[in-house]
Amino acid sequence: MEQERGSWGTNFGFLMAAVGSAVGLGNIWGFPYKMGNNGGFAFLIVYLLLVVFVGAVVMLGELAIGRKTGLGAVGAYGQFSKKHRWVGGIGVAAAFFLLTFYNVLGGLVMRYMMGFLLQLMGVDGFNGQEMSFWNYILHDYGSMVFFHIVFVVSNIIIVMGGIEAGIEKFTTVAMPALFFMLLFVIIYVATQPGAIEGYKFMLTPNLEPLSSVEGFFSVVKTAAGQMFFSLSLGMGAMITYGSYLNKGEDLQKNSWIIPACDTLVAVMAACAVLPGCAAFGLDYASGPSLLFNTMQNVFLSMGTFGNLFGFLFYFLVFIAAVTSSISLFEVIVTWKLDQARERGKKGNRTVIICVAAAVSFAIGLPVALDAIGGWFTQKPGIVPAPYQLLGMEFGAEGVPMFIDAWLDFFDVLSEGILMPLGALIMTVLIGWVYKTNFVREECEISGHKYRLPKVYEACFKFITPIGVTIVLIGQIMDFFL
Ligand code: PHE
Repeated sequence: MEQERGSWGTNFGFLMAAVGSAVGLGNIWGFPYKMGNNGGFAFLIVYLLLVVFVGAVVMLGELAIGRKTGLGAVGAYGQFSKKHRWVGGIGVAAAFFLLTFYNVLGGLVMRYMMGFLLQLMGVDGFNGQEMSFWNYILHDYGSMVFFHIVFVVSNIIIVMGGIEAGIEKFTTVAMPALFFMLLFVIIYVATQPGAIEGYKFMLTPNLEPLSSVEGFFSVVKTAAGQMFFSLSLGMGAMITYGSYLNKGEDLQKNSWIIPACDTLVAVMAACAVLPGCAAFGLDYASGPSLLFNTMQNVFLSMGTFGNLFGFLFYFLVFIAAVTSSISLFEVIVTWKLDQARERGKKGNRTVIICVAAAVSFAIGLPVALDAIGGWFTQKPGIVPAPYQLLGMEFGAEGVPMFIDAWLDFFDVLSEGILMPLGALIMTVLIGWVYKTNFVREECEISGHKYRLPKVYEACFKFITPIGVTIVLIGQIMDFFL
């Protein structure tokens, strides 16, 4: 049974896959500007505390659930109680909705990467649009769909290979490569005049955002939301990856290493992006356009050398994105494979990944074709955004953010609601229903000591559920009010 299901070849391979899932677009565009906007250093401290007391705890919970049951999210909860399968279902749904826009963004990253590659070869890679390429590409529907397909197909190829020969093999090479490329970009950016302002923006202790109750709540909420997304928690990805982990590995240590690496890369990304913006006089807080428009302009203004850096940078972002999206696909694939096995069938990984890819592609099409609602270009796309479907005017007052564009809509569904909800239910189940003893047993099974049992007990029962509730309320208020 164990044999047939497959497993990670080595603990390092597992770690690279899990860190690959965690390190993604969230680290590269979310973390830097959220840190800058929420008090810099103060944000970092709050973020670190949350990673330790909430993130690492939920991480251990998910890994333990996965490894104990040897099943993906739905099957795993089902093994504790048939009545709990729907909790895993929340995870599968979250993964699915996340994929709809993650694939589109991944495709865009590939378009920029290719643009710089062509420039390097002396060919015009940006259709003569250079500095205004962002405005152009969002309405170049053919390219949007084409690169969306290319990104989805890249996922199929990797996931088709299975756990060890597909995902592990790819991430074991890709993640160290990403690390070194990021280092390279950081060093280059550091040598640019004006970069120092970015470090100041990032690191000057500014405790003001924390000085009022409201300000404190707002920083905690932003940091916690970012932390959940960035650590891939609350939607079964870590349950799924954990289910392929050998019983001999030290679970608790792994549950510390993954958040530590993810946080390191987030801070490193901030060290590249923020000083880069400062050196080129660009706005820190521009979300998706920061990653595409802003960074592209940074590289274009560097001249020939910039083409090489642009290519490297987008290649790095592509790796970060694809190692995250394969973990989302794997949540769905493992769910279906487990289901087949439960019925005594073998289940065909290739068929499952192709169907999952096709469906997520189809649902993601409006995301690729509504030009992000027209908000960046002042011109809606060829597929109506949700607000248009509801008969609202473009740019009208009071249009809630979650219907601005299909991207926001799916983001609210997954990141805003399903992920924190999944995490909340999970910690309550572990703390109060399944009881933390099973986590302890699962950790000790490998012969390693279960460290800090009292701290974990308090976290699972009180600290973590309270932290997650704050995120959930904060997200709902942010999106809907
Ligand atoms: N952690 C990924 C990022 O930072 C996103 C993600 C969330 C991936 C949940 C898988 C599961 O971009």
